[in-house]
Amino acid sequence: MTDKLIIFDTTLRDGEQSPGASMTKEEKIRIARQLEKLGVDVIEAGFAAASPGDADAIQSIAKIIEHSTVCSLARANERDVRAAGEAIKPAKSGRIHTFIATSPIHMEKKLRMTPDQVVENAVKAVKLALEYTDDVEFSAEDAVRSEMDFLVRIFDAVIQAGAKTLNVPDTVGYSIPALWGERIKQLIERVPNSAKVVWSTHCHNDLGMAVANSLAAVMNGARQVECTINGLGERAGNASLEEIVMAVKTRRDVFTCDSRIDTTQIVPTSKLVSSITGYPVQPNKAIVGANAFAHESGIHQDGVLKHRETYEIMRAEDVGWTTNKLTLGKLSGRNAFRTRLQELGIVLAGEEALNAAFARFKDLADRKSEIFDEDLQALVNEEVVTHISEHYRLVSMRAHSETGELPSARVVLSVGGQERSAEMQGGGPVDATFKAIEQIVQSGTELLLYSVNNITSGTDAQGEVTVRLAKGGRIVNGQGADTDIVVASAKSYLNALNKLDTEGERAHPQV
Ligand code: KIV
Ligand code: ZN
Repeated sequence: MTDKLIIFDTTLRDGEQSPGASMTKEEKIRIARQLEKLGVDVIEAGFAAASPGDADAIQSIAKIIEHSTVCSLARANERDVRAAGEAIKPAKSGRIHTFIATSPIHMEKKLRMTPDQVVENAVKAVKLALEYTDDVEFSAEDAVRSEMDFLVRIFDAVIQAGAKTLNVPDTVGYSIPALWGERIKQLIERVPNSAKVVWSTHCHNDLGMAVANSLAAVMNGARQVECTINGLGERAGNASLEEIVMAVKTRRDVFTCDSRIDTTQIVPTSKLVSSITGYPVQPNKAIVGANAFAHESGIHQDGVLKHRETYEIMRAEDVGWTTNKLTLGKLSGRNAFRTRLQELGIVLAGEEALNAAFARFKDLADRKSEIFDEDLQALVNEEVVTHISEHYRLVSMRAHSETGELPSARVVLSVGGQERSAEMQGGGPVDATFKAIEQIVQSGTELLLYSVNNITSGTDAQGEVTVRLAKGGRIVNGQGADTDIVVASAKSYLNALNKLDTEGERAHPQV
């Protein structure tokens, strides 16, 4: 008998809590559509009380998603629960996920509440959430450091109040698999009416055991796993969706449950999340890393050629790895372009956006003979990016490097519609370009990260650049792609500056 394993994806909420990974509404919608295509059961679309922008993004996602439940997080207080309830109202299937901390250290030092008050708030929040939806989830934050008797008490109380899913989080990534499995088992045994609810787990990766702990929970009765694409998330991240799903699918001899994920959508989803958030995937990452299916040693290659299963436990194509598909070329027309975008599940906001993206495609096709799906994704990212806010826009630039000479760059920007230019020297052309931009904008930001990845292979490939900037406690990531990586660098820097300019203040759910 195979049970259903519910996949609860929190890339848009916990994932977005990774430094600089904040996303615009349009970006969140693109990811939500892809998560639906992937087949996740629940999309945690955000934390509605964080800001009006977050509530709006959740509401927009709730309006368009048809085959996944759309969920908002809410602390266990009236304001948060009402904000979550309003945000998920348009959803075909909507959930409120309310939580409160239950460990002695959190209750005493963070919440400054007694255990009785914590139980009272949890019960009130669940009852209020039920006014908006009958699908209410309750989480005991920092369950890993909570006392077992208190967990039994609060879970019993919220079941009586009407919660349908009980989530047991390892908020600080402290557990180890044997202990985590035992904790879930004991809770299921001790909490009255535990068979009437779905038990869930949510593990962080501080000790590198988020996936192992989640799987231990599944082996001991959890039937929902909270996870994120590429393991994105607060600090060291969450359990990675692709690893959980493929472990359960590949080891059917061990697990008595399975998910409804369309595994061939895993790699496209991973690439989309990586390019939108600016968090690259390490090459040796399981399932979605570029080397995950690459056999380097001669012995392995020989074995795989003779019989694939000698060294492969999964098939690359089953998780969505395809060889780069040549899609379009210089002579492709607008219709072919539109059709391929549709096939990739990319929806642009109206004809104007399509025309602009098509113009960029033609420009790229002039410089690059073969255009792959990955190029189209990058191009569309840029199209969405340019619609965020164009306070700073690259008009033109020239970079010069020559052996024995100090590299220099001249940059012309449009700043709020006015053209300004500057020329600077630097350690290399990218350094000189950033200095020239700073000479104009004087942003006073700190550069935390600069990274370049090639989107496809070959020296004419587009380079995708990510920069992370910090200012006044806020951190943003910017992206830019171009066949010229110095131009891509300038675009990514300006994209980050535009994000700093437009993003308002947001509350963090766990602070
Ligand atoms: O890590 C955590 O405890 C959380 C809760 C809000 C579920 O993210
Ligand atoms: Zn978390």
